[in-house]
Amino acid sequence: MHAALLSRRELLAAGLPAMLSAVFAVDNDDNGKPPARLGVPLYQEPLPFDWDALEPYMDGKTLRTHFEGYHARHLRDLQKTLDEVELAVSDVVSLMPCIRSLPQPSKTRQSLLQLSLAASAPERRGPQLLPEDVQNRIRVCGGAHLNHTAFWRFLTPPDKSPMGPMGKAAKAIEDEFGTIQEFKDAFTEAAVNHDGPGWAWLVYRPDGKLVITTTRNEDNPLMKDFVAWQDHGRAILLLDLWDHSYQARYKNNRRKYVDAWWNVVNWTFVSKAHAIAKNVYGH
Ligand SMILES: [Fe+2]
Repeated sequence: MHAALLSRRELLAAGLPAMLSAVFAVDNDDNGKPPARLGVPLYQEPLPFDWDALEPYMDGKTLRTHFEGYHARHLRDLQKTLDEVELAVSDVVSLMPCIRSLPQPSKTRQSLLQLSLAASAPERRGPQLLPEDVQNRIRVCGGAHLNHTAFWRFLTPPDKSPMGPMGKAAKAIEDEFGTIQEFKDAFTEAAVNHDGPGWAWLVYRPDGKLVITTTRNEDNPLMKDFVAWQDHGRAILLLDLWDHSYQARYKNNRRKYVDAWWNVVNWTFVSKAHAIAKNVYGH
């Protein structure tokens, strides 16, 4: 985690191309080989399908506005914030668990050690940390960029994916929730009953347990500073619950939106995300 928090000079010296190639490594999920982690780079990955490819479940106009407007704006704000504090980040994932512990710009070089010290001795954080307003901007903009990047990855045209989870991911879901339908029902209820803007998640916890949870605004289960430990972990499925995701087509009927979304879930990527999470936590 700490190796991703470097000054610009340090980042270039460390070899940016090599770091980027690591970010984009593709894993092999359920085929027996250890899967590589997928990071979140500081730009938008192009969608691998046309704007209207998710019709009739998600309309092209909403999808385009969501991607080119809302997501892109948060990414620009994140880049601006990181530029202001001269903090170069190769993988936005690395920011999430330590937003309250991020070092001030002039302290970046020392911060690699201080980050680990701060985690075990909060009283030492004081003067070395980023101002709270910068932390809050990273929480919102960084969370939004990471969440949306993941959200797009878990979407696919309805004829391009199996209709449900497969392999080890399917077994893990059945072991935890009984049946795939019971899992989908529980996830749907959590999403529908979440109050206000936010996200619904299927989380792979560090102890290997799968949990369904929701977060407010742009928080996500990687944010140890803001999410209860019971919900901390890596997402193996997520759903955007903000009005901008569905109001144009579904008005205030979030249940209709969630029911429609199940038709465009990229279950192949769920299996990949599950395999990555298992590997990350050494299971
Ligand atoms: Fe969104």
